[in-house]
This record gives sequence, C-alpha cells and structure tokens, in this order.
Amino acid sequence: TETDKSKADPVVVDFDGGIAFVTLNRPEKRNAMNPALNRRMMEVLDDLEGDERCGVLVLRGAGSSWSAGMDLKEYFRDNDGKGRHVTLKSRRQSGGWWNRLMFFEKPTIAMVNGWCFGGAFTPLVACDLAIAANEATFGLSEINWGILPGGNVTRAVAEVMNHRDSLYYIMTGETFGGEKAREMGLVNESVPLAELETRVRQICASLLEKNPVTLKAAKDTFKRVRNMPWDLADDYIYAKLEQMLYLDKTRGRDEGLKQFLDDKTYRPGLGAYKR
Ligand code: ACO
Repeated sequence: TETDKSKADPVVVDFDGGIAFVTLNRPEKRNAMNPALNRRMMEVLDDLEGDERCGVLVLRGAGSSWSAGMDLKEYFRDNDGKGRHVTLKSRRQSGGWWNRLMFFEKPTIAMVNGWCFGGAFTPLVACDLAIAANEATFGLSEINWGILPGGNVTRAVAEVMNHRDSLYYIMTGETFGGEKAREMGLVNESVPLAELETRVRQICASLLEKNPVTLKAAKDTFKRVRNMPWDLADDYIYAKLEQMLYLDKTRGRDEGLKQFLDDKTYRPGLGAYKR
C-alpha cells in the first residue's frame, strides 16, 4: 500500500504502530462518496488485507466531516439517464467495499470526527467498533430529499438501533450528536473531539495485543450467529473455533494456557497472554 498524500487521491492511508488510518479524503465535498472514492476504497481494502503494517484499520474523514453520505451529484444525478446498468455498477462499487469492511480480515474502528449522513451509516455499522466525537452530527437525511435509506442503510440502522429510534430518525431526518448516537447504540462511545484520536489509539493498543486470528474469528462469529437459530449457532461457533485453531500457526490457545497454568506470568481474567 502506498502512502499517497496527493490531494487528488480520494482515500489516503497512513500507517502508525500497527494502525492503518484510512482517511476519506474529499474534504471540499465533505467526503461524500463518489464512484472514484468507492473504487479506490476497494483497492485500499485489498491492499491492507495482506499488509503487516495494518493490525487495526481506523476509518476517518479529512476535515470537518466523516462522510456526508453518497455524492448526490456524481453518484446519483450524473448517473441518471445513462441506463440501469450504470446505476447498478455504481451500487456494486459502494456496496462492494462496505460488504468487504463488514467482514474485514483485521479489526475495524470508525472514528467519527464530524458529519455523518445517509449512505455513511452503512460503512459506520460495517466497522466492528465506532467511536464518535461529541461534536459529530449524524442524520438519515434521505427523507429530506425524497428518497428512503437505500444502500442497506435501513438494514444497517436496524442492526444497531431499536425500532422506535430507527423509525423516528428515518422519518424525520432530524440530526443528532455523538452522545445521542452513543445512547442509541449506534456508536460505542462519544468523547470530545480533542480526545477522539487518543481514545481510538487506546482501543487499537488493546486490540493489537490480541491474537489476530482469534480476533477475526471472534468478530465474524458474532456477526454471523446473531441471525441463526440456536442449534445452528452452537454448531457454527464450534466450527469457527476449530477453524481458528487450525489457522493459528502460533498455537495461541496452548500458549495462553501455558503462561497461566505453568509459567504463572499473567491472569487471563485481567489481560491477554504475551504473544
Ligand atoms: N453530495 C455531493 N456534494 C456534497 C455532499 C453530498 N452528499 N455534501 C456536501 N457536498 C458539497 C456541496 O455541494 C459543496 O460543494 P461546492 O463547494 O462545490 O458548492 C461542498 O460539498 C461543501 O458543502 P456545504 O454544504 O457548503 O458544507 P457545510 O459545511 O456548510 O455543510 C453538510 C455540510 C451539512 C454536510 C452539507 O454539505 C449537506 O447537507 N450535505 C448533504 C448531506 C446529505 O444529505 N447527504 C446525503 C445523504 S443520503 C445518501 O447518502 C443516499
């Protein structure tokens, strides 16, 4: 993955101590997602999947915005009249990277530094964790310009917010801040903007101590089993667990048991074994 800071690049990647900061980089358009950004994000995710410098992916926005949703000009109006195949292709490009993000190989954190509207809710919910600034402003603004929340936004909202709150914001398009987002379960935490990056880095440090094979298996398992019947979930969880033991060439489970039971060098109740 190159670190390309050129203004023209709609997505910029910076590495720091195991963290890949992925920045939506169209600040002059409030990081609205246009087809170029969507295509670039797919490449970035492909590159980061196998990049050892990326232990955790943090998705943030340049400037005052996290993302102002879909680019209403380039994603919607410019495609109108070009034929249904053009619309469908454009949808696949955005949905493509959001779906990749949902089950990404590394842990993902949405660091919501500012505006977060409409289509941006799907990558927000696709990230494993989300930390917002109190100063951030969220809104399901689709209703304000005459559409309903597509791009799986409606489904993403239903995944993390309750029935009443979801319908209230889908139907009124009212905005809300980081603390309200926290109260409704849309984000994990909300902190003052000045402390946002510090808090996200703390969480990254905790994740970076953990076994990455286990983290991937644990998050995917949670995301998959919640819609399964009880007995299928029980079986799937064990299948994932055994797959994880097979994939983990470091044999982390055995090492964790050894460091507690034999070496007595740590307490699993209070922290992770030393990798
Ligand atoms: N699509 C296309 N262009 C956008 C978008 C967007 N979603 N959001 C902002 N821009 C552009 C503006 O058109 C403007 O462009 P210009 O400088 O060429 O005129 C530039 O970004 C700056 O926007 P302002 O409105 O001047 O910025 P301000 O900071 O005052 O307001 C805000 C920010 C509140 C985010 C406002 O731009 C806005 O309401 N954007 C639309 C948000 C939205 O409803 N998104 C769609 C959700 S629905 C969906 O995603 C399917």
